[in-house]
Amino acid sequence: MVKIRLVRSEDIAQVYKIESEAFKYPYPRTLLEYYSNLKDAVFYVAEVDNSIVGYVIGLLRRRIIGHIISIAVSKRYMRRGIGSKLLKKAEETLRRMGAKVLRLEVRNSNIPAINFYVKHGYKIAFIKEYYYPNGESAYVMYKVFF
Ligand SMILES: CC(C)(COP(=O)(O)OP(=O)(O)OC[C@H]1O[C@@H](n2cnc3c(N)ncnc32)[C@H](O)[C@@H]1OP(=O)(O)O)[C@@H](O)C(=O)NCCC(=O)NCCS
Repeated sequence: MVKIRLVRSEDIAQVYKIESEAFKYPYPRTLLEYYSNLKDAVFYVAEVDNSIVGYVIGLLRRRIIGHIISIAVSKRYMRRGIGSKLLKKAEETLRRMGAKVLRLEVRNSNIPAINFYVKHGYKIAFIKEYYYPNGESAYVMYKVFF
């Protein structure tokens, strides 16, 4: 059974491992630690049998923009609804904090993630060229709360 709960400082090593496996340019561990202590951030992990198998980080910007900073599920647990549970939990919390809109950047070649966000109601708003260190572009996607 998967449990979604707030991150704890002792989870950061496992979160960093998932982040490093999922992304070409992972966030440094210190940045993950920083977000885990930030008042305007939401940071949840998915736990199965006492192991962390996924996480989501969101940030409230300018009081009304909920920014999904990062989300990943470890490979062997993908496609079981865990990413969806994490995203919904972060969205609900950001909404309660005052977010009127949700925003995120996704690599324009990351088709699985784009499909995932589309399924959750996000729409591509525009492209940011050369967004990533290797020159790849990002789609900026939005979801508006009604
Ligand atoms: C994106 C990610 C978090 C999704 O997590 P997940 O737990 O596998 O997602 P879910 O099982 O909740 O999937 C929900 C829906 O998203 C879509 N989706 C998810 N993975 C997909 C894939 N590989 N290909 C196509 N669609 C996909 C599907 O519509 C899926 O519904 P379905 O399984 O009923 O068809 C996960 O693939 C991941 O960690 N990717 C690597 C990190 C990453 O790219 N993060 C996003 C960066 S912006």
